[in-house]
Parts: sequence; C-alpha cells; structure tokens
Amino acid sequence: MRAVVVEQYASIDQIELKDVPSPPLDRGQIRIQIEAAGIGFVDGLKIEGRYQTKDPLPFIPGTEFAGVVTEAPGAPGGYQPGMRVMGMTRSGALAQEIVVKPEALHPLPDGVAAEVAASFRANYLTALYALSARATVAPGEQLLVLGAAGGTGIAAVQIGKLLGARVIAAASTPQKRDFARAHGADAVIDYTQADWRETLKELTNGRGADVIFDPVGGEISVQAFRSIAWRGRHLVVGFAAGAIPALPFNLPLLKGGALLGVDLAQIPLREPEVQKRLMSQLTGWLADGQLKPVVGRVFALEDFRDAFRTMQTRGALGKMVVRIAK
Ligand SMILES: NC(=O)c1ccc[n+]([C@@H]2O[C@H](COP(=O)([O-])OP(=O)(O)OC[C@H]3O[C@@H](n4cnc5c(N)ncnc54)[C@H](OP(=O)(O)O)[C@@H]3O)[C@@H](O)[C@H]2O)c1
Repeated sequence: MRAVVVEQYASIDQIELKDVPSPPLDRGQIRIQIEAAGIGFVDGLKIEGRYQTKDPLPFIPGTEFAGVVTEAPGAPGGYQPGMRVMGMTRSGALAQEIVVKPEALHPLPDGVAAEVAASFRANYLTALYALSARATVAPGEQLLVLGAAGGTGIAAVQIGKLLGARVIAAASTPQKRDFARAHGADAVIDYTQADWRETLKELTNGRGADVIFDPVGGEISVQAFRSIAWRGRHLVVGFAAGAIPALPFNLPLLKGGALLGVDLAQIPLREPEVQKRLMSQLTGWLADGQLKPVVGRVFALEDFRDAFRTMQTRGALGKMVVRIAK
C-alpha cells in the first residue's frame, strides 16, 4: 500500500510517500480502506518529534480518518465489511489501509462524505466537550473564540451557535474573519490590533466574555483572560502560537473567573460515558443536517506536504484533508 512514512523526525519537506506492506490483522481487529484523512496541528508536531509523546520510528502519521471496513473477522464491535466508518488512532491514517480495534471507530451516518467525516471527530468533539461538558455554555452567553478560522476554532463557532451562545470570533485576517462569519459568528474581532479588548468590551456591553475558547496560547491568552466576565470560564485547548502562557493568579481572583483544561485524548479514558453521549449528539446533528462540518481544503495524497505547509504557515481556513482513495 501507499503510505506517508516518517523514518526520521524532520520537517514535512523531508517526509516521503512510500510503498509499504499492508498492516497485519490480529484477532479482534478491523481493516479499513481509508478514503480520506484529516490533518491536525498535532500531526505536524509529531512528524517533527516536537509533540509531548514521540511515536517510535518509523511510523505512518495521521490520527483521523474515514473509510470502508474491508475485513472484520468475527464482526468485532458489530463492524462488518462494507460499513462506512470514521476513526481516530494514535498514528497510521495517512495510508491506503489501517488496522484498528473497534473502540477506535464510529459508524458514519448515511450520506456524509469521507472528507467531511475525516474533518469531524477530533475538532467537533473537542469543541462540544469543552463548551458543554466543561464550560456548560448557557443560551445567550457571550462566547469568544480565539483562532476562530482554524480547525478547532471554526468547530467552536458552529457548536457555540448550536448551544445558543452569542459567538464573537477573533482571527488575524479579513479572510479568516469573513470565514468565521460565514459559519455563524455573530460578530468578529481582529485580535492583532492593540485595542482589540476595547472592541470586545463594546461588543459585550462592557461585560466581557462569559466563555473563552482558546486554541492559540501565547500573550493573547492572558489578554483574553483579562477580558473575561464575572464567573467566566476560559477553556485551555491548545498553543498554536507556540508559547505556553503563564497566568498571574490574582486574575482569577479579581475576575471571579476559572481556567479549565481540555484534552481530547483523555476523554475516552477518563470519561467514556461522556464521550459516548457527546458523539451521539454530534452524529445526530450531522445526520439531521443541523451541523455541517467545515472541510477547509482537500489535497491529493501526493500533495500531502502542501496540506501540512498550509496549516503550519497559518494559512489554513478550517481543517486540511487528504483524499486517499480515488
Ligand atoms: N486540547 C485538545 O484536546 C485539542 C484538540 C485539538 C487540537 N488541539 C490543539 O489546539 C491548537 C490548535 O489546533 P487547530 O487544529 O485549531 O489548529 P489550526 O487549524 O492551525 O488553527 C490554529 C489557529 O491559531 C492561530 N494562530 C496564532 N498564532 C499562530 C501561529 N504562530 N501558527 C499557527 N497558528 C496560529 C491561527 O489563527 P489566526 O491567524 O487567526 O491567529 C490559526 O487559525 C493546537 O495547539 C492543537 O494541538 C487541542
């Protein structure tokens, strides 16, 4: 099979597409023919060996995929050949085939394209878990989304609207702000401007943001916390800007605000029932058309490097997807 193979931790320019043997199928496992893989920020860090956990070399990157079951001896988890599925894995999705346990999979609702399914699970589950299970956003609350045109950001814009929040999207370019507005944001902010907190104050009638969804990190995070409303919740999602901010402890005291951590990888381990409930809510919205996940750009497998470069150069709108099966 064709697969992206990381033999040395390196920049994406040095990573090659190779012919490798199909992975063996063990008892209780399922083989999937992958149709599309979604590229996340973490995938780029893993390839460079800069993520907090390192995949042993060599490895096939890619953590999120959609495809068709081709082998499932004994029908583990009820999965049968021919079923369309979406899945999450530690690695291995940038390949024509993958072998996983049934826990890694979720059945795909009818009529959902592979590109959509591959850009769905990680970002939308992160957004729904953060906004509903952690911050308990209430209808009418003011939700500030930082990095709102990125993969997790645009998911938070859409989920925030579905939960009834008033969504204020912060992004660095007019194109990104238009993109966030087109996907439901009620108001937008250019947070590269020195006075952006003044604009936020005006937009919230002086109150500040009840909930802040923050996948960006760096100095912006501390500035945003300074604009949190009384009893506000600041969701720590990621550090796309690179720097991990440090929050002076007097700020939560003065603001009556809370800092809440979110880690998608730990949800199935620590709160499996919550994950099940949220996935069923998400797939329900997907099936009845209330939620239309944003597919940023779709690249051919041969062009996988461009998918990573677009994301790494802050150029991505939504999630980058690699189409694998024709
Ligand atoms: N906690 C979890 O469970 C979880 C789950 C998924 C992802 N994450 C993390 O969340 C972060 C964002 O992921 P994502 O998929 O949303 O990424 P993304 O699609 O690349 O979006 C990140 C956004 O951050 C902003 N940004 C600011 N400075 C940047 C810089 N120097 N380089 C790149 N982007 C920059 C960009 O918006 P502007 O240009 O508008 O500023 C960009 O749209 C990553 O750190 C990722 O690891 C965490």
